[in-house]
Amino acid sequence: MSHAPESPSAPSVRPTPEIAGKVGALALAPGSALPSVLDACCGSRLFWFDRADPRAIYIDKRRETHELPDKSSRGGKRSLVVAPDVVADFTALPFADESFALVVFDPPHFVRNGAKSWVGLKYGTLKGDWREELRRGFAECFRVLKNEGTLIFKWNEADIPVSQILELTPEQPLVGNRCGKNAQSHWIVFLKQNKPDEERPAGRNS
Ligand SMILES: C[S@@+](CC[C@H](N)C(=O)[O-])C[C@H]1O[C@@H](n2cnc3c(N)ncnc32)[C@H](O)[C@@H]1O
Repeated sequence: MSHAPESPSAPSVRPTPEIAGKVGALALAPGSALPSVLDACCGSRLFWFDRADPRAIYIDKRRETHELPDKSSRGGKRSLVVAPDVVADFTALPFADESFALVVFDPPHFVRNGAKSWVGLKYGTLKGDWREELRRGFAECFRVLKNEGTLIFKWNEADIPVSQILELTPEQPLVGNRCGKNAQSHWIVFLKQNKPDEERPAGRNS
């Protein structure tokens, strides 16, 4: 679950143009001067201690803002701001192989959520062939991760057991932890193995 406090007001997110411009120019160049960390589906960045951490680049497939009446929040409403540095799809990441030391992968985990519900807006909903989407997401996250780099994967088992999700990647998890109200949330750490070239899936730059 989130360690960072959830602010009732809109999160302050870094203005996007300079990073977005940087990505446009550098993303596909191996060895480019990108930040060390990729959040592959940042949503509203709830679990970040600093939601504009300069060590990270934040992507999501959507850019949107929502407001909901909420008596407990200042101003009587609650905001949800999804403002990635770059709008991109984690099944086709616009970065060179081995670009990042750390990748954070927290994809949607609900299949039953109404897309318009607050939880649906906050976390997204799995649709269609979501197994293939997550399989490709894992493959892309590992592709852009440096050898010996770390992938942090988060999953909530409300709808789908984590064991089924771990089958979607050939990579072996290292350590993990259950937490949350019903111990349904998992934080799982992978270390990218330094495989010989012939065992590695062909990357975009190979
Ligand atoms: C569980 S939420 C992430 C929550 C985030 N970690 C936080 O701290 O607030 C999952 C996010 O994945 C995004 N998403 C879903 N499919 C995606 C895709 N194919 N590519 C990129 N982002 C995607 C959704 O828009 C949603 O914002």
